[in-house]
Amino acid sequence: MCGIVGGISSAGTVLQHLIEGLRVLEYRGYDSCGVAVAEGGAVTVRRKVGRLSELERVLSDGALAGARAGIGHTRWATHGKPSDENAHPHSDGSGRLALVHNGIIENYLELRRELLAEGRVFHSETDTEVLTLLVGREYERGRSLGDSVRAALARVRGYYAIAVISTGKNPELVGARHGPPLVVARTKDGAWLASDVLALLPHTREVTYVEDGEVVELSPGRIVITDLAGLPIERAPRRVDWDAEAAGKGGFAHHMLKEIFEQPDVLARTAFDRIAQVHGDVSFEGEGWQDERLARVQRVQVIACGTALHAGMIARYLIEGLARVPVDFDFASEFRYRGPCLVPGTMALAITQSGETADTLAALRLARDLGAFPASICNVIGSTVVRESGAVILTHAGPEIGVASTKAFTAQVVAAFLLAVRLARARGTLDEAQGRSLLDDLRRLRPRMEGLLTEATVDKVRRIAERHLHAKGFFFLGRGVNYPVALEGALKLKEISYVHAEGYAAGEMKHGPIALIEPGMPIVVLSSPGVVQDKVRSNIEQVKARGGHVIVIGADREALALADESIEVPEAIEWLSPILNVIPLQLLAYHHALGRGCDIDKPRNLAKSVTVE
Ligand code: M6R
Repeated sequence: MCGIVGGISSAGTVLQHLIEGLRVLEYRGYDSCGVAVAEGGAVTVRRKVGRLSELERVLSDGALAGARAGIGHTRWATHGKPSDENAHPHSDGSGRLALVHNGIIENYLELRRELLAEGRVFHSETDTEVLTLLVGREYERGRSLGDSVRAALARVRGYYAIAVISTGKNPELVGARHGPPLVVARTKDGAWLASDVLALLPHTREVTYVEDGEVVELSPGRIVITDLAGLPIERAPRRVDWDAEAAGKGGFAHHMLKEIFEQPDVLARTAFDRIAQVHGDVSFEGEGWQDERLARVQRVQVIACGTALHAGMIARYLIEGLARVPVDFDFASEFRYRGPCLVPGTMALAITQSGETADTLAALRLARDLGAFPASICNVIGSTVVRESGAVILTHAGPEIGVASTKAFTAQVVAAFLLAVRLARARGTLDEAQGRSLLDDLRRLRPRMEGLLTEATVDKVRRIAERHLHAKGFFFLGRGVNYPVALEGALKLKEISYVHAEGYAAGEMKHGPIALIEPGMPIVVLSSPGVVQDKVRSNIEQVKARGGHVIVIGADREALALADESIEVPEAIEWLSPILNVIPLQLLAYHHALGRGCDIDKPRNLAKSVTVE
């Protein structure tokens, strides 16, 4: 979703840093971009619809290269189409102030009417321009930029992270947050802000997360945090353990491919330090995961979106299967508005890579307000979901840059498996020996994942993908714990290849969707040894009888023998088979998209982290 960067320095120029910061944020998805710098007593704005390279073209005259303070933005359109006029930064018309914004100003129409009545002029269709003019009106009254921002925000309803730059005697840079994330960092001669910690890593790994209702005033080497009333707030910076290199492509053609190949290491990072092998148990950081609390859990309510929800659906099979605790799952966006009834003793489990997805966060808050204990599985330390959870399992997957989630999904499933074992051990549904055996199985998965990620498999998947490049649509079928994997396979293909793909429970096909099967249609079926393997074989026969072209992925040899094409996956216990089966699906989507010439890491219309409703 939209990205914000900003910087002020006494020792060097900032424009190049802003551009590099925006480049780091490109992965989040955007349709226009821009910068504003304060120089020579004026604030100058340059913005462009399209990619960052377009903006760089208009900046190549070098006119802004000497500036020592500035802000930048990548916009993912919400109010008003992608255009030069709607791109951020917005200026208040005075030439002294500009603002960038992530989020939504809900009362913008009423504020716009008020500003129009005063004779103020708008140049865009955005809600952001309203906020810019409000700040500008306060600034005209002679207030400092910090005071102007605080006064303007007092009039606003909605969600925002903003950065504002002004120039009076000295340039001023101010940020504020209510909802979407904002992080700040200071260096000896500078101060920097961004909506994503990755954009700050080239400057420092010591960062401070801005909280809701806070305003930050940045000057070279100094950051002052206040609340909306101007009262100072002290907060020590935190050290981020990601480095800038982790966010690079590491020699791979795309971030997505690199992230697919990282998965064996991600399994180790998510799990291995937490396995207490002698006790057949798992140890998580924090008191929320101790026996006493877990013994009280009556129900788990998973809330998540997209890929993370698929991991949550797998969590249901694992937790119900191993710990015998009932689990419900909901799209976070549905949970919020269905008037949920939560029983006493509910643990609300938010699953989210970013920890900033607006729907997931709001659903977690709602569940907490309804009396549930808020817990989460999350990849980003310091994110809002992490900070608002009573207990957290950090997945340690490292930065995920590809918009199509791969390694974060695997890490979420691994974390869910660990949680299921921990719950089961705390509640006595697994004994020590059973726990040990399951955790051994998990450890043994790493070499099997490595064995799957070979040139031979990649080549085989690529050939299958290329054979079906012009297919009108795909079905992905699975049952049991591999049903959510089928949904995930279909989502991956839709996201990056723009081909219609439907994930379905294999046993449900005969109740309607089987009518869609035409001769030659690719039907990807997941089949692993376990309770439903015979059933899946029958489902394969039903599809074949209608002329479907069956591609079987899994470790069930008999099912593989029925297939028109197949990818054999190493065997694992059924609970863990999703972690292996998803890999060929990720590679299938990748090579299909590559063959169709799609922009794999930045698919159209998508944002990495959806921070608006
Ligand atoms: O950051 P989150 O895990 O909360 O994001 C949730 C979804 O937006 C995300 O999984 C999305 O579906 C991905 N693009 C899937 O590849």
